[in-house]
Amino acid sequence: MKQAKMVLDRDYRISRIDDRIFGSFIEHLGRAVYGGIYEPGHPLADEMGFRTDVMDAVKKLGVPLIRYPGGNFVSGFHWEDSVGPVEQRPKRLDLAWFTTETNEVGLHEFARWAEKAGSEIMYAVNLGTRGPEQARDIVEYANHKGNSRLSDLRIKNGCRDPLGIKLWCLGNEMDGPWQMGQKTAYEYGRVANEAAKMMKWVDPSIELVACGSSSSEMPSFGDWELTMLNECYDSIDYVSLHRYYANPTGDTAGFLARTMDMDDFIKSVAAICDAVKGKKHSKKQVNLSFDEWNVWYHSREQDEEIWKREKWDRALPLLEDIYNFEDALLVGSMLITLLRNADRVKIACLAQLVNVIAPIMTRNGGGCWAQTIYYPFMHASKYGRGTALLAVTDSPRYDCSDYEGVPILDAAATQADDGSVTVFCVNRDLEESCLLDLDLRSFAPMKMQEHIMLHHDDVHAVNTEEKPNEVVPTTMPVEAVTDGQVQVKLPPLSWNVLRFG
Ligand code: AHR
Repeated sequence: MKQAKMVLDRDYRISRIDDRIFGSFIEHLGRAVYGGIYEPGHPLADEMGFRTDVMDAVKKLGVPLIRYPGGNFVSGFHWEDSVGPVEQRPKRLDLAWFTTETNEVGLHEFARWAEKAGSEIMYAVNLGTRGPEQARDIVEYANHKGNSRLSDLRIKNGCRDPLGIKLWCLGNEMDGPWQMGQKTAYEYGRVANEAAKMMKWVDPSIELVACGSSSSEMPSFGDWELTMLNECYDSIDYVSLHRYYANPTGDTAGFLARTMDMDDFIKSVAAICDAVKGKKHSKKQVNLSFDEWNVWYHSREQDEEIWKREKWDRALPLLEDIYNFEDALLVGSMLITLLRNADRVKIACLAQLVNVIAPIMTRNGGGCWAQTIYYPFMHASKYGRGTALLAVTDSPRYDCSDYEGVPILDAAATQADDGSVTVFCVNRDLEESCLLDLDLRSFAPMKMQEHIMLHHDDVHAVNTEEKPNEVVPTTMPVEAVTDGQVQVKLPPLSWNVLRFG
C-alpha cells in the first residue's frame, strides 16, 4: 500500500469559497431544454411543462447559478424572440447546432424554472451577430423597474418585478472560428468594453464576465487575454475560462493527470489579469469565471451521424456523452482544482446540466437518472462550502504521457461555517490503495463523521436508465481520530469525501 500525508491548519486558509463555483449551464442545445428540463405531456411534468423528476435531481445537486441560454447558441440569438406570447414567438434556424429553435421556453419561463431550482441566472448576451445596443436592451428589459419601453414590455409580458439578473457574460468563445461573429482580440475587447459600459449604465449593480480564450489550447491563448483585457479591463469583473478533457486512447493515468493542465491554465490567466492590472496601475482585481468545464468526447462521432441524418430538426439528441467511472474521477479532480484555486476562481459552471454533456440524463417520455459524474459534483456542492483550507500534502508521484511527477493523491480541504472540516481526495493510483496520514491537530478535537467513497472495478462502467445504480457512492467505516491524527485508507482509483466534525 502507498502512503501519503496531509497537514491541515485552521489558520492556513486559501480563501472564502464563492458558492457560485458550484454553478452549471443550460444551453438551448440538443435535449437540454426540450426533452430535458421541459417536456409538456410527460407524466411528471408540472403545470408549466417542466419535468419534476429532473427538477428533483437538479435540486439535489444544489446549483446556485446557471449559465443561460448559451454557449455557441447565444452568438446568433435574438433575445426578443424569447419573450411575449409563446404562440407568436418565431422559429429560427440555429446555426451553432444546426437545429430549429422554437422559443417555446424563453426568458420568463426559464427564470421561473431557475427560481424553483434555487438558482440565479448568469445570462449570456450575443456579441457575435449583435452588439452593445441589444446587450443594454436585455439588461433594461430584465432589470429595470419600469416606466421605460423595455421594462414596461416585461411587465406587459407578465413579470411586474425585475428579474434581477446580476451576472452577465459578454458573448461566448469569441475567438473560435466556429463562433457566429468571431472576432479578433482587439475587436472583441473594444465591443466588450462598449457593451459593458452601456449595460452598467442601465444597471450599475451587475457584474460582467469577458470572454477569455475558448481553451488554453487555442493558438491565440495568452495574446487574446492580454489584448482584449487591455481594451476592457476597467469595465469588466471576470475573465472566462473553458476547458473540456478527453481520453480517446484509454490512457487512464494520463487522463487523470489532466488537472495539472487545468491548474496551469487557471494560474496563467490569473497572471495575465494581474499583468494588465499592473500595467494599468489599476486597484481592481479581475477574477476568474471557469464557466465551462467537464469531460467531453464520447458523443462526437454520434453527433456527426445525427447531423447527416436530421439536420435542422428540433431538439436533436446532441452531445449526449455517457459518462463512465473514470470520468467521475476526473470530474472529482476538477472540483478539487477549483477549490484549491478558490482565491481566484469565483464562478464555475459544470457544462452542462441535463442531457447535453450532463450529470443528469432523461428519456423522452421516460425516466431520469444520474450519470457517474453526478456524485462528485453533488458531494462537493453539498460539503465544499465555506473556506478553502491550504492542504499541505506529501504524496508518491507517477510519470505519464504528458506530465512528470503527478501526485497519486489529489486533494482539497474545506471548513464549513459550523467548523466542520471536509477533505476531498482522489487516489489516482491504478492498482494500490493509499494510506492517508491526516494531521488535524490545530483544530478543536474532531471525530470522523463519514467516509463517502466512489469506486468501480471497471473504469468504463456507466449508469443507464435500466441500471442507474451501477456506479454509486458507498460509505466506508470511519476511523478514530487520536490527538488530531487519523489514518484513512483510500482504495485505488477512488473519489473520497472525508467528513470531520
Ligand atoms: O458546452 C458546449 C459548447 O462548448 C458551448 O456551446 C460552447 O461555448 C463550447 O464550445
